Amino acid sequence: MPPSIDSTLAETRSFAVPADFARQANMNAETFARLNRQASEDPHRFWGDLAREYLDWDIPFQQVLETDRAPFYRWFSDGQLNVAHNCVDRHLQGATRHKAALIWEGEDGSVQTLTYAQLHRKMCLFANALKHQGVQKGDRVAIYMPMVPEAVIAMLACARIGAIHTVVFGGFSAEALKDRLEDTDAKILITADGAWRAGKVVPLKRHADQALLREHEHSVRRVIVLRRTGADIDMQEGRDVWWEDVIAGMSADCPALPMQAEDPLFILYTSGSTGKPKGVFHSSAGYLLWTMLTTRWVFDVKPEDVYWCTADIGWITGHSYVVYGPLANGATIFLYEGAPMYPQPDRFWEMIARHGISILYTAPTAVRAFMKMGDEWPQRHDLSSLRLLGSVGEPMNPEAWMWYHEQIGGGRCPIADTWWQTETGGHMIAPLPGVAANKPGSCTLPLPGIGARIVNDQGDPITAPDAGGYLVIDRPWPGMLRGIWGNPERYVESYWAKFGNRYYIAGDSARRDADGYFWVMGRIDDVLNVSGHRLGTAEVESALVAHPAVAEAAVVGIPHEIKGEAICAFVILKHQYQGVDRDELGAALRAQVTELIGAIARPDDIRFTDALPKTRSGKIMRRLLRSLARGEEITQDTSTLEDEGTLQHLATLKK
Ligand code: PRX
Repeated sequence: MPPSIDSTLAETRSFAVPADFARQANMNAETFARLNRQASEDPHRFWGDLAREYLDWDIPFQQVLETDRAPFYRWFSDGQLNVAHNCVDRHLQGATRHKAALIWEGEDGSVQTLTYAQLHRKMCLFANALKHQGVQKGDRVAIYMPMVPEAVIAMLACARIGAIHTVVFGGFSAEALKDRLEDTDAKILITADGAWRAGKVVPLKRHADQALLREHEHSVRRVIVLRRTGADIDMQEGRDVWWEDVIAGMSADCPALPMQAEDPLFILYTSGSTGKPKGVFHSSAGYLLWTMLTTRWVFDVKPEDVYWCTADIGWITGHSYVVYGPLANGATIFLYEGAPMYPQPDRFWEMIARHGISILYTAPTAVRAFMKMGDEWPQRHDLSSLRLLGSVGEPMNPEAWMWYHEQIGGGRCPIADTWWQTETGGHMIAPLPGVAANKPGSCTLPLPGIGARIVNDQGDPITAPDAGGYLVIDRPWPGMLRGIWGNPERYVESYWAKFGNRYYIAGDSARRDADGYFWVMGRIDDVLNVSGHRLGTAEVESALVAHPAVAEAAVVGIPHEIKGEAICAFVILKHQYQGVDRDELGAALRAQVTELIGAIARPDDIRFTDALPKTRSGKIMRRLLRSLARGEEITQDTSTLEDEGTLQHLATLKK
């Protein structure tokens, strides 16, 4: 089960930093203390020095941070650089030129390795192809791809020519893709004939065709299709072109375009508590700096590591820690195409042994799923190449932490439980493996330069140990989001307004223990965390209400053994549908949500009801529904409830 404050309050175990790890770590206790001191004494100098040391600039910056339009902060804004150059070209000198940048394993077991030189060539060919297709600096390019090297190549090619990519997770539906194409005004869509997932083909191109059906509603004029599965697809004359055809005859010479530090690098959609997902956008230089530094500090990446982040590139974790952070460090990244337990539950462990993977970054939901399959699966494989483990997406429950530590890490690997968000660009609170002792379930301490705090409802600091409050960040950092695409007001409203623009408000609650360690307790808003993925209750509700039988719906999270949180939906049917078979209707509603959002949003539990608990002003009282869904007794104050009878009725509903 995901931790409640009670279960983690009982957690007192601590695992010291292994001495041999500390000796070789990129960051030791001394450096950590020095960086913290510098960051608080002179933040401009601190960030300026790091940006000069770790990035290659075409035009050096003079100005580190501009605060005059806060909370629209600007970093290094008079400097210019190119992100793709920093991730690839600068590793072409010396030994890294022929070092593996990327090792990919397909679901069918085929393996492909690209050296930095080869990656550079492929990126340049594709960047020239994009230019040839009319893509210019600032244009938006949508990427809806499987986990194949070409997805990384497409992202880097965009960065090289200054196009802003928006990657849409391949598990999202045609409808979700359509929303993102519309909102970004993307000119080009890059997709594939399909993606392999557990031996089956996910029909990406068919979804793309559906998303593009109504031509006047989007700006996509060209679809570039990678052949991956060989599935039979329709190619629309004049619109669709094959990947291999667009690169045919292109030159491998494509100079990287110097970009303003603040030029957007990408837009990525994430769920909020209201409305449709928000298009969070990130900058070029600040984002790159932060992903590069955190990869180096938190994952301790070294030239000889084989590093594997299991996230899909459709999520922020895939952007920051599959692609930009590790490549900026000249690391070797491993990429896997398919389903985690395919063909058997030891697929991950087999690949770790086969490729000598030394750093593994995954999510608690995956750890819990593997744990459930039993110890024998990892035990069949030699996992001794691993030296560091990471976790992201939700708090890690101590039981899963211990299993990960012992069964996968052999008791010797530190675990980096990294707290961060789509909006933060990179890690914010995370154990530096050579510095901070691990406590199972805690993301430990803020990274140098990050001002994390816990405040109460008035915005006053909470200092008492273990007292919960809002998790906020009290100063800007280079990796922070720069806004919401096309909606500056929503940016201020969502993240800053509550406390008068003083703090960035993460939307999570947390507590700090007597050692200053942070323990994230979960979201305080109506955002769900299903298998480490963010979903807004409003999104799922509007997908349900779009079904002709549904009059009203309310969605809440319920604890789930593997997913962390599962979705429970309370649904009121329209009068004329009252007699319809409930099982059939339940199945139809699940299908509806899958079609409008994607399978990750499918409710586990649907309860049909005649009424929902509402306040006198008509607001659904979700906290009551949450208790009901969990089968808990109602202990909350119900005095604002419009009709007490509703509760009794809801309590009698069967699962
Ligand atoms: O609630 C926190 C949870 O995931 C949210 C961010 O989701 P998203 O933007 O999709 O990014 C996920 C990958 C960075 C946070 O607000 N979360 C993420 N990591 C942790 C976490 N909660 C506790 N511990 C973590 N390590």
